Amino acid sequence: MSDNNLETYTINQNQIKISFTNSVLNLTVLTSEIVRIFQNRGEHTKSYAIEGNKAKETNFEVTRINKHLELRTSKLIIKIYDNEKIDVYDEQGNPLIIDYQAARVPLDRQIDEIHQKLAESEGHDVATRSEKNSHYYEIVKELADDEQFYGLGDKTGFLNKRHYAYENWNTDNPEPQVESFTRLYKSVPFLIGLKNNHPYGMFFDNTYHSYFDLGKESDHYYYYAADNGNLDYYIIGGSSLKRVIENYTYLTGRTPIPQKWTLGYQQSRWGYSISAKKVEEIVNKMRKYHLPCDAIHLDIDYMDGYRVFTWRTDSYDDPKKFIDKLHELGLHVITIIDPGVKKDESYRIYQEGLQKGYFVKAPNGQVYVNKVWPGDAVYPDFGRDAVRKWWAENCKFLVSLGVDGIWDDMNEPASFNGEIPENIIFSDEDEKSTHAKMHNVYGHNMAKATYDGLKKATSKRPFVITRAAYAGTQKYSTVWTGDNQSLWVHLQMMIPQLCNLGMSGFSFAGTDIGGFGADTTPELLTRWIEAAIFSPLLRNHAALGTRSQEPWVFGEPTLSTYRKYLHLRYHFIPYLYDLFAQESKNGLPIMRPLVLNYPDDPLVKNINDEYMVGTQILVAPVVEEGKEYRAVYLPQGEWIDFWNNVTYNGNNTILVNAPLDKLPLFIRKNTILPWGKVKEHISSKPDEKMIFRVFGKHGNYTHYQDNGTDFAYENGEYNLYEISIDGDKANITLRKHGYKTYRRIDLRTPNEEINFVYRDQKYVQI
Ligand code: GLC
Repeated sequence: MSDNNLETYTINQNQIKISFTNSVLNLTVLTSEIVRIFQNRGEHTKSYAIEGNKAKETNFEVTRINKHLELRTSKLIIKIYDNEKIDVYDEQGNPLIIDYQAARVPLDRQIDEIHQKLAESEGHDVATRSEKNSHYYEIVKELADDEQFYGLGDKTGFLNKRHYAYENWNTDNPEPQVESFTRLYKSVPFLIGLKNNHPYGMFFDNTYHSYFDLGKESDHYYYYAADNGNLDYYIIGGSSLKRVIENYTYLTGRTPIPQKWTLGYQQSRWGYSISAKKVEEIVNKMRKYHLPCDAIHLDIDYMDGYRVFTWRTDSYDDPKKFIDKLHELGLHVITIIDPGVKKDESYRIYQEGLQKGYFVKAPNGQVYVNKVWPGDAVYPDFGRDAVRKWWAENCKFLVSLGVDGIWDDMNEPASFNGEIPENIIFSDEDEKSTHAKMHNVYGHNMAKATYDGLKKATSKRPFVITRAAYAGTQKYSTVWTGDNQSLWVHLQMMIPQLCNLGMSGFSFAGTDIGGFGADTTPELLTRWIEAAIFSPLLRNHAALGTRSQEPWVFGEPTLSTYRKYLHLRYHFIPYLYDLFAQESKNGLPIMRPLVLNYPDDPLVKNINDEYMVGTQILVAPVVEEGKEYRAVYLPQGEWIDFWNNVTYNGNNTILVNAPLDKLPLFIRKNTILPWGKVKEHISSKPDEKMIFRVFGKHGNYTHYQDNGTDFAYENGEYNLYEISIDGDKANITLRKHGYKTYRRIDLRTPNEEINFVYRDQKYVQI
């Protein structure tokens, strides 16, 4: 029985307005694979995730069939029924997203209120917020027996999100972040589904506190719900999981090619920056122990009393000279910046922001004060363009001292004096809004301001790392996963967490290697650097007061093993850089779960302890204490053990010996990979020579090269090399020539080396 009948519809260009008895629904056809579903519930419709007009000229048809409407593009069939019910099929009629017709039945926890209170008095968390009986709105969809879920950004737990519930409300909670945690620092409401092997995506572009229940409450349905906001979501089709991600990143943007050195190793610890001397000590040790390192991070102590955009003078004689010295050693300097501005009448940033009205206010008009590192602090209103511009200008202070990148932290925003009330006035561009609406995009807007500031001040590709993010932040910033701990479960979680971030558009991501909180052990640190060695952001970071975890502190063999893997990383940097060049065009992540490359293989839908790098490398780290052997599943194809060249057949699980210094690593047979030179740091000078390694007897490879620092590539200043080998016939052609070429290229096969030199505008074998 329907009480909200579908009455009429109108079409205006790519928009279909559907009138029901009591409501209106708008569908917008953006491409043949992306359709927006929108219902105005009185909110400002600015999207922070999507910039610019994403609509492409697309043919579509709308027909009325009995009581429902059918919208067809060449790739999607969308049926709209009474009660705003919507079913989505691919062009072959395979169901993708089907509205659930019955009512939700919240979990029966078999507890009454009195007993709930009783249990809570011992600290048990009995009822989570995500189990509310009803929400402001809910979108409930049918769940198939064979349906898996991926994406959602940085959520805890395992790769496949089925059977779990999550919330989108950026949260700073440094307790051990295990799979019962429903929310972390980022909100990326992008859900990828694989229903009976048919992929789809849904992006819910609503910044208010929202919820996903992915078959925890029921085996029959899953849902998305929100506390407020417009109903605003995108149906994303595509013939493969990869295509769904390409579509999603077409909509919300892709990570641009980073500066090359940002792929190098980075060392950090909360506490180093207490003095120039301490930082220099660390850096000197990196060099003394011949550990490649491209960046050192300065945490909050470099500031004067945690005042952002200041530098302490008691333990730094001259910050500029100090940074110059680090640059001479080939190190880049990243400084942390928090949003909280110290409430201090004599501090310029506070005065300026106050005078210009740039801080968020309580409903009574007073500037809102909470506490962060500097004590009483106020919060810049990043939803306003003027505030973002002001922040961007202030980045100049750091750039003028030589700082190479900015690490945006505490931007959920964090607050030590209780949660910021939802009614605090934050701006949504020019409109007054609330914390409730702007919370989840606070970090996004701060990162965007930082990106703009760095770009303007340096003309280089900005290197920003942010803790909080929203869908689309990947255009401006890299991310790390926040305050993990030196726990094996956190090492284990790194793989699915980075894989899901990658599938949610965040290709440039990493975790604190060794673990941030708690005390690491030599074995955990070793297994962590091995497991993380292909994670795009490669940073060891630890909390103040935890056991030191620099590569040398445990002596041998930890130091040598750590160095061995840093060397391996530097060999693979040109490959990672190539993957970023591709990613900037298709949005496909660097670090991938097996299911992304082999979606039809039923055995890889929830593999949590293996990952792939692009399509050619399979990594199977040991992530359990005391283990020296592990089973490795190899998907279809033939796989070469990187360490001993033994070939294995895929569709097969093998047992691999992996003593503490061994990371099980496999290369797909007939692969060519660039093999960079091990260096103490990435050089800004063009490379004269490149080696390519051939695994197997045949292969093709496209290699990208540019200056690794600025935007000259946008004007064509880059090279594309096509490398091919077929038995002993090798060939190198320059498909695009816009940058200084390698003078020499060597192809290294398992039993010979084939050398080429650049002569008369081409590569000739010598
Ligand atoms: C937060 C960050 C951490 C940083 C610390 C001090 O906990 O997540 O990385 O070291 O603040 O700034």
